[in-house]
Amino acid sequence: MIPEITVLISGRGSNMQSIHQACLHGTLKAAVTHVVSNTIDAAGLDYAKQHDIHTSVVPHQEFEKRSDFDTELIRTIQQHGNPDLILLAGFMRRLTPIFTTKFDGRLINIHPSLLPKYPGLDTHARALKSGDKWHGCSVHFVNEALDGGPLIARGIVPVLETDTESSLAARVLKAEHQLFPQIAQLVLHGGLACLDSHIKLNDTTLSSPLVYYYN
Ligand code: GAR
Repeated sequence: MIPEITVLISGRGSNMQSIHQACLHGTLKAAVTHVVSNTIDAAGLDYAKQHDIHTSVVPHQEFEKRSDFDTELIRTIQQHGNPDLILLAGFMRRLTPIFTTKFDGRLINIHPSLLPKYPGLDTHARALKSGDKWHGCSVHFVNEALDGGPLIARGIVPVLETDTESSLAARVLKAEHQLFPQIAQLVLHGGLACLDSHIKLNDTTLSSPLVYYYN
């Protein structure tokens, strides 16, 4: 049976598209079977519909408490199966332990910075302002902290002297589109797992996150 992936989005959905394309090309041996958005007008929903992927919307504004939103999100996901992996691809909501413990070990996020640097928003501007020579993206298992949880991998890109926020964002996004499917494949088929907050590769604990360089 081919593993099933649910992707959570909030907007553009370009990472969701790269995951889906990797599945179509066979570099990620899985199928994107469900795309869930917390915003009704997320552009990524159009791509999913055009590619016959089941879509759902759980508008966060309709829930007073974060825990109620998370409970509905769980219900929505489970209504359409039991995914092997849930990927947060630009999903801009913090999740409570209700959700993170439910999908412990199969919940992964991508974030546009070299975590633990710059969780949250405006990561590219913050890297430029700090004069960083290197920037990039990170993929991690998810806990309830903002962009928090055991770090799997960092995708590193150079910061050029001529960079603006948008040129740097574009370089990082390109790296994201390569890194995320690669890590998903490792988790589903390559023996990568999270046990007691430690990242294991074929039962060996990694002493540091995996590192990939892109330019
Ligand atoms: C991506 O850069 C992703 O890493 C980021 O949002 C963007 C979504 O783009 N996620 C976060 O900042 C999570 N904290 P996309 O919708 O085109 O994939």
